[in-house]
Amino acid sequence: MIPVILSGGSGTRLWPLSRAQYPKQFLPLVSGHTMIQETLLRMNGVADLQPPIAVCNEDHRFMMAEQLWEIGSKPAAIILEPVGKNTAPAVAMAALCAASEDDILLILPADHVISNTAAFHSAIVQAEKLAQQDLLVTFGVVATEPETGYGYIKADKTQLGDGFKVAAFVEKPDQATAQRYIETGGYFWNSGMFAFKAGCFLHELEKFNPQMLKVCREALAAAKVDLDFTRLDKDIFLTCPSDSIDYAVMEKTDKAAVIPLDAGWNDVGSWSALWDVTGKDAVGNAIKGDVLTIDTSNSYIHSSSKLVAVIGVQDLVVVETDDAVMVAAKDRVQDVKAIVDQLKALN
Ligand code: GDD
Ligand code: MG
Repeated sequence: MIPVILSGGSGTRLWPLSRAQYPKQFLPLVSGHTMIQETLLRMNGVADLQPPIAVCNEDHRFMMAEQLWEIGSKPAAIILEPVGKNTAPAVAMAALCAASEDDILLILPADHVISNTAAFHSAIVQAEKLAQQDLLVTFGVVATEPETGYGYIKADKTQLGDGFKVAAFVEKPDQATAQRYIETGGYFWNSGMFAFKAGCFLHELEKFNPQMLKVCREALAAAKVDLDFTRLDKDIFLTCPSDSIDYAVMEKTDKAAVIPLDAGWNDVGSWSALWDVTGKDAVGNAIKGDVLTIDTSNSYIHSSSKLVAVIGVQDLVVVETDDAVMVAAKDRVQDVKAIVDQLKALN
């Protein structure tokens, strides 16, 4: 099995710590290791692992190479994208780089937290068995809230090993639909991790978006390989249609299966999610860096360079960096993205 690290996101909802040049997956947000390092270290102990393939923006190539090197991981390839075309082309590139069509890829977003490694490993073993049967395997987390940032998976009754065939996959439904799914029950959130044979994925992509696959093949054929780096041809890759694996393949395929995952999965998509997964003091404060508090509780307070003092507040997020300070109510942290949009409009 080949771990494939997808590292193209910019993590705007974790501004001001996560930046375009330094996105969240390259930061040590939940431990002493960066999110990318955690993603690979968490695989230790899984049987028959081949060297990983990483897919990232070319601007991040040295950070990626250095962070892999730091944990002693020797990649099969670091595929460099001149621009992000979303996850379907990124996965296609990894599949095209696999030595054999029968190699099983384990697609791993670079920015998730999984607290129960043992449960994750047993889900991987189950997923690998289904992937061997030419299925595209998702890892489903029982859906508990009408969250609209996730894909929703309805499992078929047909049991397959420890999993199920997928009856329906709906990427990012609107609020009313998500609400209906939660009330109906029996839905999983798509965790964004997948297991399948390289050839199976390419076959399905060929069916649903042959143009994307054609451009990916051409951009890879014209790539420049330099040590671990495979630099995709810019002019060709710029013409690649942009789409996520979820819309391009998973919503359309009839070969999807789901393995339930109960392993403390969190996609750390916001400051409040980060607060959820970070160790807290007796009054619920998660504190990083040089911070003093009085009568403050249930808050996330992060200082990068200055002393930060917080008095008499609850449920707040305070993040200080060299050039920006953000203060937000913990239930308003989704709006950080709007601040980043305002900043982009100014620049
Ligand atoms: N190399 C590369 N290139 N990686 C990318 C690109 C790209 O253009 N775009 C995104 N990625 C990486 C991100 O860095 C992340 O690790 C992963 O692919 C998933 O992309 P996101 O942009 O974070 O996807 P999402 O969160 O909106 O939705 C996906 O994940 C959800 C769970 O967190 C979907 O799979 C949903 O169905 C799922 O519920
Ligand atoms: Mg995500």
